[in-house]
Amino acid sequence: MKKILIDCDPGIDDAIAILMALAAPELEVVGITAVGGNVGVDTTARNALALAALAAGGAPDRQVPVARGADLAMFAEKRRAESVHGIDGLGGVRLPEPSWPLEKIPAWDFIRDAALRSGGSLEIVAIGPLTNIAMTLAAYPAAARSIKAIHIMGGSAGLGNATPAAEFNIYADPHAAAAVFQSGIPITMCGLDVTRRASLTPSGLEALKAIGGRVLSPACAMLDHYLAAYRGFGLNALALHDPLVVAHIVDPSLVTFRPYRVEVETEGKYTTGKTVVDIHGIAKRPPNAQVGVELDVVGFIALMTRLLCSYDAPGGQGSSREAR
Ligand code: BDR
Ligand code: CA
Repeated sequence: MKKILIDCDPGIDDAIAILMALAAPELEVVGITAVGGNVGVDTTARNALALAALAAGGAPDRQVPVARGADLAMFAEKRRAESVHGIDGLGGVRLPEPSWPLEKIPAWDFIRDAALRSGGSLEIVAIGPLTNIAMTLAAYPAAARSIKAIHIMGGSAGLGNATPAAEFNIYADPHAAAAVFQSGIPITMCGLDVTRRASLTPSGLEALKAIGGRVLSPACAMLDHYLAAYRGFGLNALALHDPLVVAHIVDPSLVTFRPYRVEVETEGKYTTGKTVVDIHGIAKRPPNAQVGVELDVVGFIALMTRLLCSYDAPGGQGSSREAR
């Protein structure tokens, strides 16, 4: 079992990623930390807790701790993506009220404790702006160095989505991203080069709706909102950016990675937040990230479907650990 912590800004695709991770028997989710991104951190933290409650399905032994982190980047201006995820971050879909509270400590203290407790086995799934992770690096460098890996959804070797050059998570806090890429901690990067191809078509979404289920039905309601937003941009399929990160941790055969040097532009006139990926080794600097270049999209959708459906299986994730 891989021990993971999810740092996120739910966000509809974050929501799907969280629900997948909490269903995966291959993963132990030791906690969720929320950061401001798609919407403000009070909302992302509440959403993370509500998603954990949905996954737990009332089983007290499945209550995953959730900690609130930073709302804003230290230097960059506030960036949000409410036009995609809705003002509540989850496309207006109501989730169960959680029966447990947020952690009393901030995200960076929670990450430090989780890293130290794991004895070097903690992997971080970073699917929002990287502010909380950079805060951990700054506040607790020794504990941060014991993190086994950081799996990032962010950046692009090509074009951006927040600006022509920059992807949203990196653009929202480029200085934090630069600190993380320079940290020396092993990094995988699923940028837009692969996550844009992790797409679900309208007919694929209809097929999921037809299956339905305790978790899959609200997940599809969120994806309906997400698809409508994509259609507003003239696209007729949605990109499951964040879920691809969880998918490749569960099944490493789904994404092909290559080792590249990645630098983050923090001061560009037109390119702030761009990840500069040295594909041809021109800068002659050692690689600092494994960058996703290919994916098995059919295998990815099959894995997502299997995980989201498993909540309804006898002895599945909705039941208590003892019953499983
Ligand atoms: C990323 O930006 C956010 O809007 C999504 O949740 C995802 O993490 C895609 O660029
Ligand atoms: Ca996200």
